[in-house]
Amino acid sequence: MTRTVYVNGEYLPETEAKVSIFDRGFLMADAVYEVTSVLDGKLIDFEGHAVRLKRSLDELQMAEPCSKDELLEIHRKLVELNGITEGLVYLQVTRGSDGDRDFVFPSADTKPTLVLFTQNKPGLADNPAAKKGAKIISIEDIRWGRRDIKTVQLLYPSMGKMMAKAAGCDDAWMIEDGYVTEGTSNNAYIVKNGKIITRPLSNDILHGITRKAVLRMAAEAQMEVEERLFTIDEAKEADEAFTTSASAFVMPVVEIDGVALGDGTPGPIATRLREIYLDESLKAAI
Ligand code: PDD
Repeated sequence: MTRTVYVNGEYLPETEAKVSIFDRGFLMADAVYEVTSVLDGKLIDFEGHAVRLKRSLDELQMAEPCSKDELLEIHRKLVELNGITEGLVYLQVTRGSDGDRDFVFPSADTKPTLVLFTQNKPGLADNPAAKKGAKIISIEDIRWGRRDIKTVQLLYPSMGKMMAKAAGCDDAWMIEDGYVTEGTSNNAYIVKNGKIITRPLSNDILHGITRKAVLRMAAEAQMEVEERLFTIDEAKEADEAFTTSASAFVMPVVEIDGVALGDGTPGPIATRLREIYLDESLKAAI
């Protein structure tokens, strides 16, 4: 089935959607994005994604393409037009194009490019991978220094994912100065003696929308949380580990660099947090 996508004010069949070859998103990765999950035909934490999008745009002095209400309407319309019950809405804003290539930003009145499309993912909530748990490898984090801005510079994370696949694993965690930063497309956590440990927010990691919700829900469930740096060696000795993201929610990690965590199956805290997250998020979905 041909998807209906959104490009700069128009809803079009995906085969007819076009963006200029001079678009700065294409030429310079001068673009930011958001991925919002859809469960039961409803958007999970739209507000959080809209707020982070505004922050990313502000950090790059990029104009807002439209209001938050208009964004919500576009998300909802695409979900409806494409009949999405479980899946994702991908949104990208670029600095647009003034018709040539130049390192200097185009004038402030250049219109940003706004593109959205849906991805149909039946079984997203009841994902069998979550029951098995993920195997990860560790790789050096060689990304730029503003990972808190959700830009489309995803070549290294994509390479990391391929390195993981080549090693027979599912994903990679990145290491900087000996400490775990985050996964290729998720935030990273370990659990030791019942305590959830995760890297504090800074420019070094993306400020995950799922992370924020999960940490709040963990606290509400009287789970102990400590935001501090941890090394990959500490992770290998953890009782359990997991990642969070809008595309996989809470995903248990069962192996790091070939070392099994606990008994090599998803741990109780990750499993419980996944249940709580799905349950609570569905109740608040719009
Ligand atoms: N990725 N860290 C990185 C590097 C990410 O790319 C993501 C999300 C996260 C988790 O953020 P959130 O909880 O807001 O999804 C952390 C999305 C899902 C993606 O690129 O597809």
